[in-house]
Amino acid sequence: MAPAQQMSLDQQLMTAGDWGYDRQIRVAFSPREQIGRVLWWIAGFLLFKCSLRPMYAWRRGVLRLFGAKIGRQASIQRSARIDLPWNLELGHYSTIGENTWVYSLDKVHIGDYVTISQRVFLCTGTHDYTRPEFAMIRKPISIQRGAWIAADAFIGPGVTIGADAVIGVRSVVLKDMPPGMVCVGHPCAPRKPRVPVP
Ligand SMILES: CC(C)(COP(=O)(O)OP(=O)(O)OC[C@H]1O[C@@H](n2cnc3c(N)ncnc32)[C@H](O)[C@@H]1OP(=O)(O)O)[C@@H](O)C(=O)NCCC(=O)NCCS
Repeated sequence: MAPAQQMSLDQQLMTAGDWGYDRQIRVAFSPREQIGRVLWWIAGFLLFKCSLRPMYAWRRGVLRLFGAKIGRQASIQRSARIDLPWNLELGHYSTIGENTWVYSLDKVHIGDYVTISQRVFLCTGTHDYTRPEFAMIRKPISIQRGAWIAADAFIGPGVTIGADAVIGVRSVVLKDMPPGMVCVGHPCAPRKPRVPVP
């Protein structure tokens, strides 16, 4: 057989009987998490998704019931998706915009006065793709006080966004971003101070 380096990816996958896809970990959640997810799936649909748009206090209450720490006057749109609400900490006066997805397999800390715009993806999970088990890897996300995450941005596992930072629309953030900076692009990088230097 040709050495692996000389084979195309397709050939390698076809001859990869020993790669062991059958060892893939299909269930990545503990029994406790599974039960919580089923309960949240039902209650989240009936009480959260079906709530009326201005019922922010109600949605705060529903999330708190499922273990989330939600600050006063925080507003979460009913179209937002929050996977494991007990991992969410949302500060006072912060907002989570329409169709934002909080994939909170690990802790998601959002400080006070943070704005998360529409369709942002806060993603705390990835996979160990180097192993056939394809094990899930979870890392927390922290978004510090006063930051603004603009529409459609992706914030990856383990990332910290510094206080008052601005993350531009459709940015892909794979590393920590410093406080007080406008950060843009794919991959996202600091571009200029949020408040222009005189
Ligand atoms: C980040 C943002 C606020 C910056 O606005 P700004 O201060 O006016 O910055 P500028 O438009 O002058 O852009 C500065 C540079 O960064 C670049 N840039 C800005 N946003 C970018 C982005 N999201 N991705 C890549 N590059 C971007 C610009 O092309 C420009 O590059 P140049 O200097 O080479 O021409 C703005 O681009 C943005 O993302 N707005 C969010 C809109 C949104 O989400 N609305 C819905 C929420 S209510």
